[in-house]
Amino acid sequence: MKTYDTSLFRRAGFDITISPDAFIRDTKAISIGNHIRIDGQFHITTEAELGNYIHIGPGVIVIGSSKGKLTMGDHTNIALGGRIICGSDGYMGDGLINAPGVPEEMRDTVTVRPVIFELCANVGANVVISQGVTLSEGTVIGACSFVPQDFVTEPWTVYMGTPIRAVKKRPKDKMLRFVQILRETRI
Ligand SMILES: CC(C)(COP(=O)(O)OP(=O)(O)OC[C@H]1O[C@@H](n2cnc3c(N)ncnc32)[C@H](O)[C@@H]1OP(=O)(O)O)[C@@H](O)C(=O)NCCC(=O)NCCS
Repeated sequence: MKTYDTSLFRRAGFDITISPDAFIRDTKAISIGNHIRIDGQFHITTEAELGNYIHIGPGVIVIGSSKGKLTMGDHTNIALGGRIICGSDGYMGDGLINAPGVPEEMRDTVTVRPVIFELCANVGANVVISQGVTLSEGTVIGACSFVPQDFVTEPWTVYMGTPIRAVKKRPKDKMLRFVQILRETRI
């Protein structure tokens, strides 16, 4: 299977498959570990730091200029169609949207804040995650949900809906046992 050339990444481990059609604006801003799969039509403009055992599904987009940053811990994923917005216009009338040709003093306020996936944070299809969000350890975000800016989830909790609401807990001890076994027996 053909894979994207990772030799220009800041760091790349082994067992990595990235679809060759990925759009990665700054390869030097990408750092990834081992056992990574990134499916077709991945698009990223920000910095990214990825751990181990990560799957990013088809059509995932990560935006927020070169100042934005996505961090994904071990055993995390973004399912197909996910949108990670590390930076955005405010849309509240501070100015006009940041399109080419709009003078600086007439432009909207832009906020850029990192998005963080902690260990075992998993995200369903077509989820939108805003700037400044932290998905704490073991979080699940159900399909088609919206996570508002600066939201910090409760660990090992399943959320769904728009805006998200907590609905149930995940089996933390069982999942952490699996994580531990992999850490002890494999690289
Ligand atoms: C959030 C999720 C994990 C919950 O799974 P679950 O607990 O088995 O959920 P259920 O199917 O039993 O549904 C429970 C209730 O939540 C509702 N619900 C489930 N997922 C929802 C979602 N994403 N958004 C809003 N409501 C949802 C169901 O309609 C049901 O409502 P009811 O109690 O009024 O009938 C799952 O629905 C989901 O979204 N998974 C993501 C799947 C995906 O995108 N996979 C990507 C490919 S790997």
